Amino acid sequence: MSETFTGEIHAMIKGRRIVLGITGGIAAYKAAELTRAFIKEGASVRVIMTKNASEFITPLTLQTLSGHLVYRDMFSPLKDFEMDHISLADFAEILVIAPATANVIGKIASGIADDLLTTTVMTTKAPLLICPAMNQSMYENPIVKENIMSLASRGYHFIDPGYGELACSTEGYGRLPDIEDIVDEVESMLTVKDLSGEKILVTAGPTREPFDPVRYISNYSSGKMGYALAVASRRRGARTIMVSGPTSLPVPKGIIFIPVKSALEMRDAVMDHLAESTVIIKAAAVADYRPSTRSDSKIKKEKGPLTISLERNPDIIDEIGRKKGKRVLVGFAVETENLIQRAREKMLAKKMDLIVANDVTQDGAGFGYDTNIIKILTPAGEVEELPLMSKYEVAHRILDRIRDIIRSR
Ligand code: CTP
Repeated sequence: MSETFTGEIHAMIKGRRIVLGITGGIAAYKAAELTRAFIKEGASVRVIMTKNASEFITPLTLQTLSGHLVYRDMFSPLKDFEMDHISLADFAEILVIAPATANVIGKIASGIADDLLTTTVMTTKAPLLICPAMNQSMYENPIVKENIMSLASRGYHFIDPGYGELACSTEGYGRLPDIEDIVDEVESMLTVKDLSGEKILVTAGPTREPFDPVRYISNYSSGKMGYALAVASRRRGARTIMVSGPTSLPVPKGIIFIPVKSALEMRDAVMDHLAESTVIIKAAAVADYRPSTRSDSKIKKEKGPLTISLERNPDIIDEIGRKKGKRVLVGFAVETENLIQRAREKMLAKKMDLIVANDVTQDGAGFGYDTNIIKILTPAGEVEELPLMSKYEVAHRILDRIRDIIRSR
């Protein structure tokens, strides 16, 4: 499942230098789409094609999409090219092989460098992402498996092929992974792992407070800010747990996901994981009140008005603040007036190490948007004002501050 729920869930690919190696399999045509996706993300792409790859897709297609000559031959006069294999290897901040045939995987695993692509692989210091695509029987061949395992154990990255219809009229594993999944993996690989070793607990989304089997009280939280934080936290190397109220967002890959509904359930889930966490980010919009009673059957309409009495929910962040010890605690303040002053009061009263102040009256900020306009406050009195940016970029800025707090201790 793709993680493009904020519409802009990548931030690290922009401006980066990607070398894309295309080898000779039927999925080579999908490399055109991958090139486009990288370019759309703002990367600078150079394409190397093997001789067999150009039997499946023309270099002109890739040249047009990447905006640069396609590199194919080790021995062409260099004047025809901007770079040789050494400069291509230096140029690459990441090298992606998609599709990668059993043949190229075998060659790399055996240290063979007999064409431009394998020579570049051998020369580069950049990380390598290999995206195998082949017939299922080939993929299951023990020699191929062994080659993949041997390369993986040396630190090469792989994305497992997808399941589905294969070009040879069979069904199975062997399809090139989805383009978004490859782009997501590249984003992860380009993200500095400066939070590895941390255990980050994120809460996200609204809570639902039921008063009969079919109705509840809730709020407009979409969960996007919390989900962006969980994705960014995982990509920066933290073990990430997300306790989430009901949202319509796909569950991010690679995290521990704990779905809850009500504030009471959220409180219990958070407390269950508090001990193991080093950082807690409370992005959830927890309902402050819940109906005092819950009818077992649907409440029928009557002539007069209906009164529902409410009682206080536990203040989860307040409880964490009292128990947190050395943990870093980050809260959010959603306000419609006196933003800074109220946020500061909340931060100090609940022993937070940072508070993210969110004025939801501004266009592009708060519930439902893919973007946010926030201010980050510290107990020392600093106020960092961020301009309108995607929630994913906001997530990284919050995590930057958390990293700085951890480093300063
Ligand atoms: N929060 C919480 N438990 C609650 C209510 C809020 O943990 N029962 C957390 C939110 O996740 C957020 C922070 O408290 O990180 C501030 O939430 P907000 O609703 O802005 O503030 P409240 O403290 O509830 O104050 P008020 O509603 O009076 O503005």
